[in-house]
Amino acid sequence: MSDGRLRAVRDRVRSFPDFPQPGVLFRDISPLLKDPVAFRTLIDLLEDHVRASFPKIDFVVGLDSRGFLIGTPLAQRLGIGFVPVRKKGKLPGATESISYSLEYGRAELEIQSDAVEAGQKVLIVDDLLATGGTMRAACELLKRLKAEVLGCLVIIELKALKGSEKLNSIPFYSLLQYD
Ligand code: PRP
Ligand code: ADE
Repeated sequence: MSDGRLRAVRDRVRSFPDFPQPGVLFRDISPLLKDPVAFRTLIDLLEDHVRASFPKIDFVVGLDSRGFLIGTPLAQRLGIGFVPVRKKGKLPGATESISYSLEYGRAELEIQSDAVEAGQKVLIVDDLLATGGTMRAACELLKRLKAEVLGCLVIIELKALKGSEKLNSIPFYSLLQYD
């Protein structure tokens, strides 16, 4: 039953060679977002996993921008709040920032300094893990705010890039794996 649900989600991921630059095989979740049945199934599967594995989280933290598409409906389902981690220059007030590298470039992420309180428990959510640079940077931002990162969760993991090794001991979960 769960296999059928997983297949329904996987069937809605497209692959584009050499985007956004030569050598990158881009995994596109647009068809998944466009199909309300498959998208609901995705959130059902993530909700089941989070309720079973992380019953005590205070917030879902989502990563700019595709992580917002997954993190906000998931937080709503769980009945908890959502905290955005954004690309540089988008958040008002005091922020913590960190620069990092990802599969196709470099960028800088920020979080509002008052976004979470020390000791609060968070789950970080994104659409995809490639090199793990983005997720590791987000973990570091949350650590600076003294939050407790209970886990990291993505829809898609690009296994060949070994990104999960960058997350050290933080529990990591991916719904779909690609070589
Ligand atoms: C993509 C993706 C992840 C990140 C993964 O985001 O959504 O956040 O790359 O790559 P990494 O594991 O090598 O760090 P991108 O920065 O392209 O932004 P977007 O979500 O706005 O498209
Ligand atoms: N972000 C980083 N690498 C990616 C890829 N191969 N496909 C989609 N998003 C990505």
